[in-house]
Amino acid sequence: MCGIIGYTGSKQVRDILIDGLQKLEYRGYDSAGIALHNGSMRVIKSPGKVHDLVEILPPALDSNTGIAHTRWATHGGATELNAHPHTSSTGKLVLVHNGIIENSAQIEGFLKNKGYSFISETDTEILLNLIEYEYLANGKDIKSALVKTFSLVTGSYALAIIEEDKPGRITLCRKDSPLILGIDKTGFYVASDIYAVSEYAGHFIFPGNNDIIIVENKSKITVYDVHGNEKEPEIKEFNAAKKKPDRCGYEHFMKKEIFEQPDILSDLVGSEYKIEGHLSSGKNFNDILHSISRITIIGCGTSWHAGLVARYIIEKYARIPVIVEYASEYRYRDPVINNHDLVISLSQSGETADTIAANRLAADAGAITMGILNVRNSSLDRETDFQVFLEAGDEIGVASTKAYTAQIIQLSRLASIIAALRGNEAKSQEILDALSQISSNLRYFLEKNSNITDLAQKYASSSNFLFLGRGLNFPTALEGALKLKEISYIHAEGYPGAEMKHGPIALIDIDFPTMVILSDNENRTKMISNIKEIKARGGKVIAIINEGDTEAEQIVDDVIKMPSVPDIISPVLSVVPLQLFAYYVALLRGCNVDQPRNLAKSVTVE
Ligand code: F6R
Repeated sequence: MCGIIGYTGSKQVRDILIDGLQKLEYRGYDSAGIALHNGSMRVIKSPGKVHDLVEILPPALDSNTGIAHTRWATHGGATELNAHPHTSSTGKLVLVHNGIIENSAQIEGFLKNKGYSFISETDTEILLNLIEYEYLANGKDIKSALVKTFSLVTGSYALAIIEEDKPGRITLCRKDSPLILGIDKTGFYVASDIYAVSEYAGHFIFPGNNDIIIVENKSKITVYDVHGNEKEPEIKEFNAAKKKPDRCGYEHFMKKEIFEQPDILSDLVGSEYKIEGHLSSGKNFNDILHSISRITIIGCGTSWHAGLVARYIIEKYARIPVIVEYASEYRYRDPVINNHDLVISLSQSGETADTIAANRLAADAGAITMGILNVRNSSLDRETDFQVFLEAGDEIGVASTKAYTAQIIQLSRLASIIAALRGNEAKSQEILDALSQISSNLRYFLEKNSNITDLAQKYASSSNFLFLGRGLNFPTALEGALKLKEISYIHAEGYPGAEMKHGPIALIDIDFPTMVILSDNENRTKMISNIKEIKARGGKVIAIINEGDTEAEQIVDDVIKMPSVPDIISPVLSVVPLQLFAYYVALLRGCNVDQPRNLAKSVTVE
């Protein structure tokens, strides 16, 4: 994963790099480092978060050229030696890398035979020394070194390189990992995403796979293709400035984001359903909806869960087959795809490596692609035919909350559009009527969510948790389990209620509590039977129930009461107490809620 930032120009580079690293910390926070060129090259790095690096940086660092990196460890632990930037054996090159070099073991063997040795455990140091080997073999020509290197490595990479002999120059290239070049009057900015530098730059180049870009002397840009032939730079104008994220008085971004949901969702439901993008054939999205025979939703983690909820809604109301698949599985299983498929990439960040690759696979096979995304100008925004945005605002907490509920809303609205196009106005309207009831009910619940902190207190010392739901709320169970495990580190599993008898019930005892989602009427009776099966084995049950469900209240240990709403929107409401439960349990266990261990907000490696 990792975040890359760099600058060369007439400004001092220190604060640009630190600011960029802080904005890119969503891509990883295991270690951070910077390299400066001020006549000679200097590298400073530290394990831990960007603020750990800032603590060891001298307050003034005189330099106009530098590159920096925030890391999510892939090869080798989160140590100073493994942190980027890495320096090549002779000290001629310094590089930062986002991605994974898949044949690093083979390249390592090759370089060892040439007398190279390595001080870190990273694939990056191996890649760097291969580049250096080719650099020295090609008269210190960085372009030729990279062209040769491209033919020798497999994997993904976004690279920014500085050369000892070329002060004021940065070379960048990428394959399947994002990297952009920002331009302003003072010089050049290299970054993993546009927002790390959008405060400064108004013009951008989005390098294609294996393009090589050399920027130097404050204003000179040279772009080469994969073969090293010079090509015209394609410069685009963008005004993508963003406000700095603010916790608005909340202790954590996650809590703020949970409590923002009523407003975000009501704005979304009340807004026009805007489908951006176009096809070169000129066909509009409604033409496409008429011609498709199937929808495939791809995503990872929480986004995949939102896709699972949407499948129930789209199939039930719009009567079109829906497949929901992990992007990481879809991309490698040789799926049958044709030009009657609409493939929806569901992604908060628009930068998830597996989702991007799965989208490319679908596009190459002729499918119409659509991104349902939160982040504009992200890779998936650029790479999909059509885009719908979540308009949820920046989601900073690593655990996704508001993006999840907004994804369900935007997919439900799509179901309503398809139902109407297929002549079923009543079903279409039924969805819209249900969606209009979400915000007020959510607001009511959040204002009186009195017992969730007590329940967190009661169950925070559990080592395991089972989450059960059925139908529309089976994905809610998966999502509740994911929220709990990722921020509180409690082992949790989500299951469809009926599946429990096929194995997981063996786990149940007095110390293994189960959270049951009982807030939709369609599955309530069946879930009551499942609860009884757990109780018969001594298990503790917390149930999310509709207010007034006294029958359920009597058979379980604890309840969370929700206002009764149409079934179709119950997943949006029922997930919120699970988000809060995970949040409070994590706090009680002393966990870092916004930046849980081992995770990153955006998973930019496969
Ligand atoms: C969990 C979580 C992750 C993401 C997943 C996909 O709380 O946030 O599981 O949902 O990494 O990310 P996006 O949606 O950015 O593609």
